[in-house]
Amino acid sequence: MPSLRPSIIAPSILASNFACLGDEVASVTVAGADWIHCDVMDGDFVPNISFGSPICEAASRHTTIPLDIHLMIQRPDRYIEQFMAVKGVASVTSHLEANHDAGITLDRVRAAGKKAGLSIKPGTPLDQTRALFGRFDILLIMTVEPGFGGQPFMTDMLGKIREADRLRTDLGLGFLIEVDGGIAVETAKLCREAGADIMVAGTSVFQAADRAAEIRALRE
Ligand code: DX5
Ligand code: ZN
Repeated sequence: MPSLRPSIIAPSILASNFACLGDEVASVTVAGADWIHCDVMDGDFVPNISFGSPICEAASRHTTIPLDIHLMIQRPDRYIEQFMAVKGVASVTSHLEANHDAGITLDRVRAAGKKAGLSIKPGTPLDQTRALFGRFDILLIMTVEPGFGGQPFMTDMLGKIREADRLRTDLGLGFLIEVDGGIAVETAKLCREAGADIMVAGTSVFQAADRAAEIRALRE
């Protein structure tokens, strides 16, 4: 069943021009984005390095919308406080596959008054998150292998999104489903129909000639 809630559109600054990050963040804010998605990579959990909390802090000074932190790092438990201290951070998502006690990390994020997110890579079955049901506010289903922007959407992840949507309804859970990787107008529509609530879009928003029109189209 398609979700009746309007989609939350979260442009990923990974695809922005870092040389003018402030203007980029302001631009997508004015264009109607709901959240700013920050992809943090450590060169260990994923084979790429992006940025840390000082860059998120710099971005936060140019927007009034919430920051959505996606930690693609090992030992996220060592860094969550640093990210939660950044003004405007509303949610912090870490990976089930990283080497930490994911339940404890989620509990600490919630205890700080932020939305706690749990993410799974394409190869990780939804079943592996079941022990943590009730302890996260966001389930981030990766629709590409994490590490790089601009990859093609993995259509076979739609089944996982549908399954997550069905399970939360059956179990009466209120978590939001976020999708990340290869999200453009067509794939956003498929994800929304499958039950996703939050669309992370890097390339499609930052490369669009008209960012406001792109965000509107992603939401529909
Ligand atoms: C991938 C990141 C994504 C990525 C999405 O590891 O988590 O957020 O930036 O980029 P696009 O939208 O370009 O696929
Ligand atoms: Zn991301």
